[in-house]
This record gives sequence, C-alpha cells and structure tokens, in this order.
Amino acid sequence: MRQFGLIGYPVSHSLSPWIHHEFSKRADIQATYKLYELAPEEFNEKISALKRKLDGFNLTLPYKEKIIPFLDDLDETAKESGAVNTVVKEGKRWLGYNTDGIGFVRSLSEAYPQLLEEESPKLLILGAGGAARGIFQALRMKGFSQIDLANRTIEHAQSLAQQFSVNTRVYSLEEIEARLTSYDLIIQTSSVGMAPRTGESIIQLAKLKKSTIVSDIVYQPLMTDFLKQAKAAGAHIHLGHTMLLYQALYAFEKWTKTYPSVEEIGQTLKQKLKGS
Ligand code: ATR
Repeated sequence: MRQFGLIGYPVSHSLSPWIHHEFSKRADIQATYKLYELAPEEFNEKISALKRKLDGFNLTLPYKEKIIPFLDDLDETAKESGAVNTVVKEGKRWLGYNTDGIGFVRSLSEAYPQLLEEESPKLLILGAGGAARGIFQALRMKGFSQIDLANRTIEHAQSLAQQFSVNTRVYSLEEIEARLTSYDLIIQTSSVGMAPRTGESIIQLAKLKKSTIVSDIVYQPLMTDFLKQAKAAGAHIHLGHTMLLYQALYAFEKWTKTYPSVEEIGQTLKQKLKGS
C-alpha cells in the first residue's frame, strides 16, 4: 500500500483525500491519502518522520515555502514560484514541484481549447500573491505573452511583473474596471469572495465584452459573486474546482506514473461543491 498525504495547517476541510481516492480507484493503485495537520511549532520535528513514512505528499498553507530546506532539489516551476505544493520521492531524493499553475492552465485549456489557438490573446490576472505567481509563470511557459496585472497593492504587482515579463502593464483595481473590454481572459487569483465572505468581489465587472472568458480560482462557493457578475454581463465563465482537480492529477501522475481519466471525477466534484 503506497502512502500519500497533505500537510498543512489547517487541512480538515480538504477535498484532496476524496480526489486521490477517486484517482487510485480508476488507476487501480493501492494507495492511501491522509491529512496531516501540523502546528507551526511542530513542523520541523515532524516533517522528517513523515518523510520516512510517506511515498510522496502535497503541501498547503502555510508550508509551501517552509518545506524547501527539507528537499534535495526543485524543478523549474518550484524554483521560479518559490513555493512547493507537491513532493516526489525518487530513489532516496526528495524533489519539489509546484503543480498549481500548470493545473490551472490545463483546466483552462480543457474547457476553452480555442484560447490556445488565438493569435495573441490578451490576459489579465487580478491579484499578485502566490497563486497569481504560479499561474503567471505557467501561462508564460504555455506561450502567452500579453499578460497584464491588477492588484490592490501596486508594488506587489510591479515586482511580479518584473520577475516574469517584458511587456506586462500594471494597474490598480480602480483603474482596471474601466479597461476590461481589452481582455480575452480575466483570472481572479485572490481569496476575495471565498466562503464565508461570499458577497465580496475584487472588482466590479459591469464593463465586459461577451467573448471574454472570466475565471475564478475560488471554488467555495463554486459560483462566486465575481463569476455571477461575469455571467450577468454575458461573458464565458471558468469555475475554480477544475484547477483543484488538475493540480492534484499532476501530483498523482508524478507519484504513480499512471494517468487516470478525470472527466467523471470533475462532474462529481462539481456536484459535491454545489451541495456544500
Ligand atoms: P496566495 O498566496 O494564496 O495567492 P496572498 O499571498 O495572500 O495569497 O495573496 C493574496 C492576493 O489577494 C494579493 O494580491 C492581495 O492583494 P495585496 O497584494 O494588496 O495584499 C489580494 N487580496 C487579498 N485580500 C484582498 C481584498 N480584500 N481586496 C483586494 N485584494 C485582496
């Protein structure tokens, strides 16, 4: 029996055990996936024991950076984002990856393949934290070259833009509301709108063109206020649960070298989240 898990604080509401159980069933792999809630003061002491016990693991807040000194190497995604969400054991070596950004891009390209065929679509990322960094990096790697940023704190967006791109423009949240019609894809990467503060939206989406795809990485609730506004404006929407699913799939694929199909799991996950 192979043993995987999620390390974080808190982790009790995580859907990852259910998702990985579904992957294991479909891939016909004998595996467990458990939650390990480590308080910050016990992290250093307990992580070594968990490394002895587990065959691979995921990390969530607040440990995506703190794990790095305990690993032997990082791949490009983890190096550039400075954060690790997936740890893979290869022989005696522990390798850190970040599958959040590529998970997002895969979920987007499954839902909207036409976006990848467009000449040079204009993209906007709202927010400039860890999630924005991972998504920005993955979009650049996929070949998107026109990516602008808008954030509450301009300096955070400026430093992200400097890290990744030559022609990124940076806006305040107030400025961007009047410029939304320029974009083919808008991605909301902050936690604004997440339960229990469901009535909030990072910006107002009154001025939107109908062909724009609007994405929110928040998946609790599935239909955020931000996405409701996008729908009301006639735009296309992209739900956050698919990023959760695909970042988990990349981890599972790296651990087991098997490739389960996810379509049905995505549908069930959506129903589960709708009911929550
Ligand atoms: P994560 O690493 O999970 O992405 P984070 O580093 O806390 O989380 O980043 C959160 C992002 O959401 C930041 O861009 C933050 O804006 P600031 O850079 O100004 O802090 C943004 N954010 C969080 N709460 C917000 C709010 N109430 N209104 C607007 N932006 C908010």
